[in-house]
Amino acid sequence: MTTTDTRPAATPGGSASRDHGGPDILCEDLVRIYSTEGVEIQALQGLNLRVEPGDVVALVGASGSGKSTLLNILSGLDKPTGGRATVAGVNLGSMSRQQRVHYQRHTVGFVWQQTSRNLMPFLTAAENVALPLLISNARERRERVGELLELLGVADVRDRRPAEMSGGQQQRVAIATAVANNPAVLLADEPTGELDDAMSAVVLDAMREASERLGVTVLIVTHDPTIADHVRRTVQIRDGRTSTEVLRHTEVDEHGVEHLVAQEYTVIDRAGRMQLPSGYVTELGLRDRVRLELEPDHVGVWPDAERNKPVEPEHHETPAAGTHAQDEVSTETHDRGEGPAEPADRHTAPDDDPNAAFRRPEEEQ
Ligand SMILES: Nc1ncnc2c1ncn2[C@@H]1O[C@H](COP(=O)(O)OP(=O)(O)O)[C@@H](O)[C@H]1O
Ligand SMILES: [Mg+2]
Repeated sequence: MTTTDTRPAATPGGSASRDHGGPDILCEDLVRIYSTEGVEIQALQGLNLRVEPGDVVALVGASGSGKSTLLNILSGLDKPTGGRATVAGVNLGSMSRQQRVHYQRHTVGFVWQQTSRNLMPFLTAAENVALPLLISNARERRERVGELLELLGVADVRDRRPAEMSGGQQQRVAIATAVANNPAVLLADEPTGELDDAMSAVVLDAMREASERLGVTVLIVTHDPTIADHVRRTVQIRDGRTSTEVLRHTEVDEHGVEHLVAQEYTVIDRAGRMQLPSGYVTELGLRDRVRLELEPDHVGVWPDAERNKPVEPEHHETPAAGTHAQDEVSTETHDRGEGPAEPADRHTAPDDDPNAAFRRPEEEQ
């Protein structure tokens, strides 16, 4: 098995070339403001992202969240308004024209959503892959093209033109073309946007395979949340900022059965600001203000009992069944204006139910 740290040096034709230490993609407080007809649009609002060499990362966000803006910057087509972006050790903010051309030819490869934008329509698959190749020896070129088409599982369409291939085959040939010169980083903007689910899965797996075999770092941006099933790390982008992320790995239990384990993370900036996953926020009805508690090894976050507390009725000693919530979890019954407020028995509930704080308010009624 190949891991990100043990790349097969034996890949003929070479694998991703790097002569820098540190992450392959590093965005620090990246800002991009578009000004059109006097209106300013903040497409990126201080985005932070770090991707280590050989990783495959999906950046997922709704339409308009700034994904293409980020990829345009990382591919050297656009410049940030503020902040820093470094790819494979190259600072994208201070590139000359010449450096930019070199960067686009050697350091990064791209795959775009529109299959037609990736390939020359009048060239065959093999000719498309050969086009960017810098190898001048004809036999070596042929070998390299053959290996790449094989790696992406499209060796059988080598002599077909794009119009004679399926969308999924075109995208796999596009990936082969993008990685032909061993870039350190492969950037893909909605590469499966025009494909059905089955074909998307094939293309994403081909991308991961290419990363494992060639050592190329892959950043895929998409609005399709199902991509999370195909990559180890999924980062959410919201309003031009990265927010939460999910890391997945497989664990084998005592019966030898593999389980996928997903762990949710959030980004914390230098000022200590962070965003909770929206699912957590709705689950606990968090809003306006939350209560924090510093523990030896973690921070607890609770709904604000003071603000959400029902109108205080007479104290009530007997806890009703199913209301084992701690007083941190209060409901908004006082907002509804229908009948008297609930008894405050929840406030005397024992606090030995570890799940109490995670119960949705409406489940307690
Ligand atoms: N060239 C541009 N000029 C003005 N506004 C733009 C331009 N490109 C993108 N935007 C705006 O920036 C925001 C982010 O766009 P984009 O990066 O394309 O999002 P996504 O790829 O996530 O759908 C959107 O509000 C979009 O309308
Ligand atoms: Mg886009």
